[in-house]
Amino acid sequence: MSSLDDQARAIIRGNDRGGYTLPTRGLYPYQWNWDSAFAAWGFATFDNPRAWDELDTLMASQWDTGMVPHIIFHTPDPGYFPGPEIWRTGQTPPTSGITQPPVAATMARLVWEMDPEAGHDRMAALYPKLLAWHRWWHEVRCTHGPAAITHPWESGRDNCPDWDIGMAGVNGADAGPYERRDTGHVDPEMRPTKEDYDRYITMVNFGRNAGWDQAQVVADGPFLMADPGITFMLLRADEDLAVMGRALGHDVTELEGWAKALRDALPLIWNEELGAYDARDLRTGQFANVLGSGAFLAYLADAGNPTLDAQLMRVWDSVSYGIPSADPEAAIFNPRKYWRGPTWPVLNALLAVGLRDSGRTDLAERLRAETESLIRQHGFYEYFDPNDATPCGGADFTWTAAIWLTWAG
Ligand code: DGY
Repeated sequence: MSSLDDQARAIIRGNDRGGYTLPTRGLYPYQWNWDSAFAAWGFATFDNPRAWDELDTLMASQWDTGMVPHIIFHTPDPGYFPGPEIWRTGQTPPTSGITQPPVAATMARLVWEMDPEAGHDRMAALYPKLLAWHRWWHEVRCTHGPAAITHPWESGRDNCPDWDIGMAGVNGADAGPYERRDTGHVDPEMRPTKEDYDRYITMVNFGRNAGWDQAQVVADGPFLMADPGITFMLLRADEDLAVMGRALGHDVTELEGWAKALRDALPLIWNEELGAYDARDLRTGQFANVLGSGAFLAYLADAGNPTLDAQLMRVWDSVSYGIPSADPEAAIFNPRKYWRGPTWPVLNALLAVGLRDSGRTDLAERLRAETESLIRQHGFYEYFDPNDATPCGGADFTWTAAIWLTWAG
């Protein structure tokens, strides 16, 4: 047993608050939606029941609408902004008013496959809740075809260049006074800018003033963009949920219909000029015209093609470690700034699932080895400089520890 395995388990246990896990202490002191799904995958390697508890706690905060919020504020913590007093969603426990990438069904399938007998009843109980969340995505957020986000935080890839054209239309002057807390935990150079934050808070203010009414946020909110990353994660998760639904004896016609509609919509996010899947402003139809790591999640949903293969190799071969979150040849590339260049172990793990499933096992192994090297050199950081391996963001990160146990180590 390697000591890094021990360290990874200790990080996850150390971030465990009883039924839910913090992404990292200090910077992210609550339960985050997609972080929790990856935490469950990690838990499943050494404590399968606890993996199901993590998913249960996440889905217990599902709204009546079916939406599953991106943060659940179980215990107040002044170290994070914007906290529950800013979101004011009226939920118990308090939650944010936006969602995050729907990877929970994909992670539930991976957890279930690790111990099918023990997981049967746990998955049976979770199934209707996951189905309701997927229904929310399809009925509320896929009305233009691909999956739409109303705030960059919903993408999980907060400040990636994909959102720059949408962000340009948000008036940050409406944010009002506020005090950031993230830059007290992490080098500000590795975090989004003040201009980004002004716009993030303006979007939160809009949602709160709309009483978090989705129809209003989608129709009139300051930001509405098609997210290739979520589109592929949702499509994959629909298919994973359908596999589990069939195994549980459910009629999965509805899920199959959603997956087909989403697959039929993929040409709408293919940017011929860029030669890649691309984000798109749904109000103007304009493409972002930048290659982001979300495009490569196409492999998760069996939606790759030779042009995308060439783009993948171009961006990957121009750095030393992992798949960068932005195109190294783009002017905006910054190898240490959050989603504008660094490589993210958790995303590498998800991309590797896609590469493996699409038959590119050699590439999946290369990605694993490069991610392993980053963690061996520096520990379980949130993200890394893909050129020189400098560790960035939060340390002792739950999902980095989780993917070490399931994949990288
Ligand atoms: C943050 O606070 O940086 C988060 O990414 C928002 O979810």
